[in-house]
Amino acid sequence: MGFSEKEQQIIENTVRFVKDKLRGNEAGHDWWHVYRVWKTADYLAQKENVSPFTVSLGALLHDIADAKFNGGDEEAGPAIAREFLTKQKVEEEIIEKVIHIIRYVSFKNRGEAAGKITPELAVVQDADRLDAMGAIGIARTFNYGGFKNRPLYDPGIKPAVNQDKEAYKKSTAPTINHFYEKLLLLKDLMNTETGKTLAKHRHEYMLDFLDEFFKEWEGGF
Ligand code: ADP
Ligand code: NI
Repeated sequence: MGFSEKEQQIIENTVRFVKDKLRGNEAGHDWWHVYRVWKTADYLAQKENVSPFTVSLGALLHDIADAKFNGGDEEAGPAIAREFLTKQKVEEEIIEKVIHIIRYVSFKNRGEAAGKITPELAVVQDADRLDAMGAIGIARTFNYGGFKNRPLYDPGIKPAVNQDKEAYKKSTAPTINHFYEKLLLLKDLMNTETGKTLAKHRHEYMLDFLDEFFKEWEGGF
């Protein structure tokens, strides 16, 4: 990726820091989620006019302290990232850009993020959203539902589309509803051209899955 030796060292230190910090996390928000987002973000970055170093740090640190696993505290992630990057002697200007990514990457913050999409945020956000779609997206979603002990599906509980942030956070709906409340909306929220192309395929895959799911629910013929 053409990083300097110093940048390479910082990336390696960040990988170690993140792996350690996310150990034991629910499988949809663990190191491997971060790893996939990092790889996808690197790939998307090749076609965009962005700093690959900032994108890598943003991807690696984007879920360092997800508010939903930290008592709702949305400042924990930015604070931990700032402390770590300062110790790594990363330039202040880059730290600010990474913190901007952490603050606005999340789907539930999309209202607040409107008008604040920087090129680096665009790339990391697309990569994070792609990991919420397709086969991996399906796997993560049912893992999260299991982690929260939610039913797979309940025909009596309809999805609530266009929920505000508070309602989205409080939802205890069956896992299938999450497809309609978030996953199927992502295709139209992609920022980059490459992201849009990848999202299209993953979206179709989820639609096929849902077709099959509902067919089997009623007997499978
Ligand atoms: P973001 O990563 O944009 O902040 P979330 O953390 O809310 O978004 O969601 C990340 C992933 O966690 C989702 O794509 C999904 O796989 C899973 N998830 C989050 N909320 C739910 C839910 N209510 N039901 C099932 N899965 C969920
Ligand atoms: Ni994420």
